[in-house]
Amino acid sequence: MPTYSYAECLQTAYRVNWRVSDVLGTHRFDRSRRWLPSQLSGTARISCLADDEKTKLTHVEMGAYAHLFGYVEEFIAPKMVSLAQDFAIDNRVAFDALVNFAAEEVKHMNLFREIRSLVDEAVGFPLALIGEEKAVARAVLGKSTGATLLLTAAIEWFTQLHYLTAFKDDGALDGFTKHIFKHHWLEEAQHAKMDHLETLRAFEPLTEAERDTAIDDLIGLVAAVDGLLQRQAALDVQNLERYLGRSLKEADKQDILAGVLCAKRYVFIESGVTHPNFQALFGAVTTAAQQQKVERALEGLLGAGGIPPRRRARR
Ligand SMILES: [Fe+2]
Ligand SMILES: [Fe+2]
Repeated sequence: MPTYSYAECLQTAYRVNWRVSDVLGTHRFDRSRRWLPSQLSGTARISCLADDEKTKLTHVEMGAYAHLFGYVEEFIAPKMVSLAQDFAIDNRVAFDALVNFAAEEVKHMNLFREIRSLVDEAVGFPLALIGEEKAVARAVLGKSTGATLLLTAAIEWFTQLHYLTAFKDDGALDGFTKHIFKHHWLEEAQHAKMDHLETLRAFEPLTEAERDTAIDDLIGLVAAVDGLLQRQAALDVQNLERYLGRSLKEADKQDILAGVLCAKRYVFIESGVTHPNFQALFGAVTTAAQQQKVERALEGLLGAGGIPPRRRARR
């Protein structure tokens, strides 16, 4: 299993740190290009749209993709602030690293709010996006720390996968979109490593019963994420209809909804739980029985194709 350190994360964080104004500059989105790589979009699964309409669907999907990062950062930032307290006096490097992590997430929320305005300006109307992020953040923070951290680790590792395997080398993608997610990737790399350290620390003192609770909480959180994805996928279809300026037939709406939801489940769940670094972490803090329980829950959400291979059991 990889080893990370708060000191190395903090040094790298200071080196790659950016300001929102550096990322935004005077950039604007190019509506003639795709805004989301095909691996992260439902377009390849949809047969009822013309190519230019599929390009527009990626605009709507990217607006939702950026919004959902801001959405989860609502609970990640306060969680890191509360974890940092454990180090406040006796481990200044870990304290600084986690406080800086939280500050970066607050900055990312501000970035994604600005991006939301620029997306709305480009598409010509305010995209419909899921709300209630504060209520969701309160609910997530009410779950066990181990579960919240595992969910966070899955999210932050998939930011790495998405940039490196989908955004980075896609020459047809809008340049501003690539620029945004390159900067997010740069700072998220340290977050994912600190999630790893914090997850190991959170699980270490837990009893078996407490670990079972954490795994049950994690299963509940992933199901809740899926509920949010279903709601946003339905809003994406509404947004697309408005953007295209024509009424979609009911069968076409269902085709688009199925494609978009399948892509979102890959993007926000499957690509995180199957990430090798997440699997190494998950394997280190769970028993074989707990892993099987999570696999069964994922199978219910994603189908057999979404099941990660068997992880190494903790014992
Ligand atoms: Fe972030
Ligand atoms: Fe992050």
